[in-house]
Amino acid sequence: MNRVYFIGAGPGDPDFLTLRGARLLARCRTVFAPTPFETTFAEQLRDKRVLVPFDFYFAELQEKVHTFLEEGEVAFLVPGDLTFYAPFQGLIDALGERAEVVPGVGTANVASALLKKTLDLPGVCNRAIIASPRTLGDGPEAPTLRDLAAPGVTLLIYMNNLPLPELTALLRAGYGRNVPIALCHRLGLPGEEVVTGTLDDIVEKVGERDFFNLTTGSKRAALTLVLVGETLTATVDGSWWDHRREHIWKHRDGEGG
Ligand SMILES: C[S@@+](CC[C@H](N)C(=O)[O-])C[C@H]1O[C@@H](n2cnc3c(N)ncnc32)[C@H](O)[C@@H]1O
Repeated sequence: MNRVYFIGAGPGDPDFLTLRGARLLARCRTVFAPTPFETTFAEQLRDKRVLVPFDFYFAELQEKVHTFLEEGEVAFLVPGDLTFYAPFQGLIDALGERAEVVPGVGTANVASALLKKTLDLPGVCNRAIIASPRTLGDGPEAPTLRDLAAPGVTLLIYMNNLPLPELTALLRAGYGRNVPIALCHRLGLPGEEVVTGTLDDIVEKVGERDFFNLTTGSKRAALTLVLVGETLTATVDGSWWDHRREHIWKHRDGEGG
């Protein structure tokens, strides 16, 4: 039975494709690739039929997939991977056992690596919240980013559509103080830029740059991930390590971590 692979493609650069993803992609004759993957994956997509999934309504898309399945395996390149904010759940459900999901490197993973920061840190950040102002809803009961921001929280904000001064004001109200923030733009793509600062100085540091497609009139969510929280600048010494070594790790037999 030919299958449809939903391959976590990473944030853009094919270097972030997993070995499994690359092996399965190589088998597929037809690939649905959202922009800019048709360009950044040009080498991997050579000699394949490449379509943009968002060019079709759902029924049309399903029909196309079933037609292409008759002649070979089909892949969808999933930006980052399926874990957060991927639009393919309906199609995966409709395909049932024909669908296979291949995990990949999410945008948050790449941001954490570039910043060289773990997004939770004992004693500093004890929880992470993933959110987008586009999906919180706009009814009177809907939470805002202010409700989610709080001391001890690392916030990962996808698809931001708020002007930066408005975003920082909400976050400052939620955290109740000035905290570090990082804007991670076009990770793994040409034009990659990371701007770090605090809620108090990030607007000035960003200046005229439009990281959120707010001045272009584009309806597309910008390729910018916003990270907020004290873990972004905190540093730790070896005492946490030694405490765990003394009380946990050395009492385990042959187990990692
Ligand atoms: C529809 S979501 C897709 C998330 C994706 N499934 C993932 O695992 O990262 C799109 C949002 O993810 C973030 N994003 C996706 N690609 C990015 C990139 N190359 N650089 C920075 N942020 C990116 C941005 O916040 C963007 O608005």
